[in-house]
Amino acid sequence: MSEIKEQAKKCGVLGCTGMVGQRFLTLLSRHPSFKVFKIGASSRSAGKPYEKACKWKLSEALDANISKLVVSECKPENFQGCDIIFSGLDSDVAGEIESSFRSAGFAVFSNAKNYRMDPSVPLVVPLVNADHIDSVANQKARYGGYIVTNANCSTTGLVLPLKALMDAFGVLKSISVVTLQAISGAGYPGVPSLDIIDNVVPFIDGEEEKIETETRKILGTFDGVQFLDAPGTNVSAHCNRVPVLDGHLSCISVSFETKSKPSIAEISRAFEKYVPLPCEMECYSAPSSSIRVLEGVDRPQPRLDRYAENGFAVTVGRVRKDTVFDVRFVALVHNTILGAAGSSILNAEIAERKGLL
Ligand SMILES: NC(=O)c1ccc[n+]([C@@H]2O[C@H](COP(=O)([O-])OP(=O)(O)OC[C@H]3O[C@@H](n4cnc5c(N)ncnc54)[C@H](OP(=O)(O)O)[C@@H]3O)[C@@H](O)[C@H]2O)c1
Repeated sequence: MSEIKEQAKKCGVLGCTGMVGQRFLTLLSRHPSFKVFKIGASSRSAGKPYEKACKWKLSEALDANISKLVVSECKPENFQGCDIIFSGLDSDVAGEIESSFRSAGFAVFSNAKNYRMDPSVPLVVPLVNADHIDSVANQKARYGGYIVTNANCSTTGLVLPLKALMDAFGVLKSISVVTLQAISGAGYPGVPSLDIIDNVVPFIDGEEEKIETETRKILGTFDGVQFLDAPGTNVSAHCNRVPVLDGHLSCISVSFETKSKPSIAEISRAFEKYVPLPCEMECYSAPSSSIRVLEGVDRPQPRLDRYAENGFAVTVGRVRKDTVFDVRFVALVHNTILGAAGSSILNAEIAERKGLL
């Protein structure tokens, strides 16, 4: 392992102390060809060794070498020598900081919302629209570096099954989604315990709008110059925060534009047969099966199913006829793995394969 890591790409992780940052460090600590080289957070954390700056919240132990790294302020000059910058920055500061890294020539893989809908920046869920990464050539020409964003965590759990349905049955006319989202999705310290224990909060600021707009861009196309929204794809979203640690569950109903409606068996087969580009490219973090269809009548469940394929797959269950739409089902995504840090890492693996790093 140490020999492989000798030639590894050197990674900087911005927002290293947060929920997404902690997941980055865990996933990167066991990555064969990416190595954590520099870490950054706010001035509150800068100058301290990571183990002192961070309140570690994951059940997996922090890598001993990473725990000794000293946290820097998020300035490009502190990250010289990095081949890749991963960002788990709070959106209040991500806009300015990520753009300064792009202007300094870095390849930035971001989880923040700031550039997701920017017409020059790809919004990439790697198991859905990996081809949009090709657009970074335009940013490189303009800025020297580039930003690749990944989606809002609940959007990721929605677009993966939708893409499998689109590929198999054409335009999706209408989509209804009701989410039940874990508290780690709100970062740390996040939702106060008095608000969430023994409770459900039927509001997550800005989340419904993000799902409705991001879905169209992700399922759309890149024509070499611009991103074109997917036709149809009218999404209605209700978002709820529930007392679960990790894993966003979504109850999804879909109508197809086609008059010849697929059967439930055909729909389940379309989920199972779906093979995205990173799997074909044999990227290190790509799951062997990107959508797992579960048979149990009461699955997926966050506690039981969020680590399917090490957290890199979406699990789907309860695929059945809908009385108003054509089909309904339940989908689950691990919000800080495939829904955040894991997707950024997969995006970087794709960029590396495409010679863009
Ligand atoms: N949690 C999820 O499931 C999830 C999923 C998808 C996307 N996202 C997005 O990913 C980003 C991170 O989310 P999170 O849940 O990890 O949030 P978080 O736990 O609140 O972490 C925020 C990080 O940003 C850093 N930060 C705050 N102010 C800063 C400043 N002025 N300069 C530099 N760094 C600063 C914090 O460092 P200090 O510790 O030093 O304050 C911390 O490392 C957000 O944009 C979020 O919307 C989150």
